[in-house]
Amino acid sequence: MFSSFATKVTLALILGAANALPGSNAVPKLDTRTTAQHGYINVVAATLWTDSSKPRAIDEPALTHPVQLEKWLSSMNVSDYRDLTSNSRTQTQALYGARVEILNYESGWYEVAVPGQATPKNKLGYPGWVPASQVSLDQHYGKLQSSKPFATIDKAATVSLYRDSSLKSKLMEITYDTRLPVLKEKGSVIEVAVPDSGSAYLSAHDASIYKSASEIPYPTSLDLISTAKLFLGLPYLWGGMSGYAFDCSGFTHTLYHSHGISIARDADAQADFTGHGTRVEQADLQPADLMFYASNLSDPSTIYHVAMYIGEGEMVEAYDAGTPVRITPARFGDEFWGGERFLAH
Ligand SMILES: *[C@@H]1O[C@H](CO)[C@@H](O)[C@H](O)[C@H]1NC(C)=O
Ligand SMILES: *[C@@H]1O[C@H](CO)[C@@H](O)[C@H](O)[C@H]1NC(C)=O
Repeated sequence: MFSSFATKVTLALILGAANALPGSNAVPKLDTRTTAQHGYINVVAATLWTDSSKPRAIDEPALTHPVQLEKWLSSMNVSDYRDLTSNSRTQTQALYGARVEILNYESGWYEVAVPGQATPKNKLGYPGWVPASQVSLDQHYGKLQSSKPFATIDKAATVSLYRDSSLKSKLMEITYDTRLPVLKEKGSVIEVAVPDSGSAYLSAHDASIYKSASEIPYPTSLDLISTAKLFLGLPYLWGGMSGYAFDCSGFTHTLYHSHGISIARDADAQADFTGHGTRVEQADLQPADLMFYASNLSDPSTIYHVAMYIGEGEMVEAYDAGTPVRITPARFGDEFWGGERFLAH
């Protein structure tokens, strides 16, 4: 995704602070000592919109609680998907239970920033607007999230979360890379905390438990490639970052993030902004290196696409609207900007 909304961010921070003043249209329970308050995503994946005017009639299933992502994705044709990009409607997604910083409130919508999705647009995290019904203010959940180990979904694109410890009554689907605080482990069942609903249950086969992200085992290139293969065939969605659909950089961000390595959210920022990748020339590419494409090779801000090299002259990518996530011959044409390595080999 392109970084064309940098100016909006400063404004939003100012508005966020203004909203904290008495007598203004304040966020419910806003902590006036800070410009931001924590909220927690309470749907499988909340889509962040550029602003509240951007959703179309066809996007209604993406705005509800519970959200109906499969219905939304299957109702759109290729022009509807493409229009999300060309009219800059969607920005990114945040997964169930994820903490967001609330920056602003306006007529049933929160402007939030998603920590961990690094971007030059806002130092707090990736910014965008979400329906307020998709954000919980459950601060008890927040305390558990900051103090308990977490269970992370790392075996499949989507898995079931249950209401009961016998794993019979399904609460909802959750997606790959969702992280929920662990309350208890018993046999092959993990009890997790969820926003607004107390607790829920996962099969231990679907998740791994870590005390912190730094405990996640350092991956090999093969680990990253096996993870990528879980998502082959998923739809391309501008702003998509869940086990239902991805955009190019949401895909590469998620592959690395789930293995404990943080890279920026957008393609240009992944190449240029985080500073911890190493530039790799074509001849030196190794599996799991990221490959970037730019319309002007001398100007990193024109980078518009990222894919992951998987070896043997092939790459895996979420390419564009209408093209499912795929393995394809690595492209080294005019617009190949170069590679970046985030793994220490
Ligand atoms: C795609 O669906 C929209 C409605 O969502 C419709 O207006 C449009 O004509 C359709 N386009 C194509 C190419 O089928
Ligand atoms: C490409 O980027 C460079 C560096 O910013 C700039 O000097 C040059 O004019 C750009 N070329 C085109 C064709 O825009």
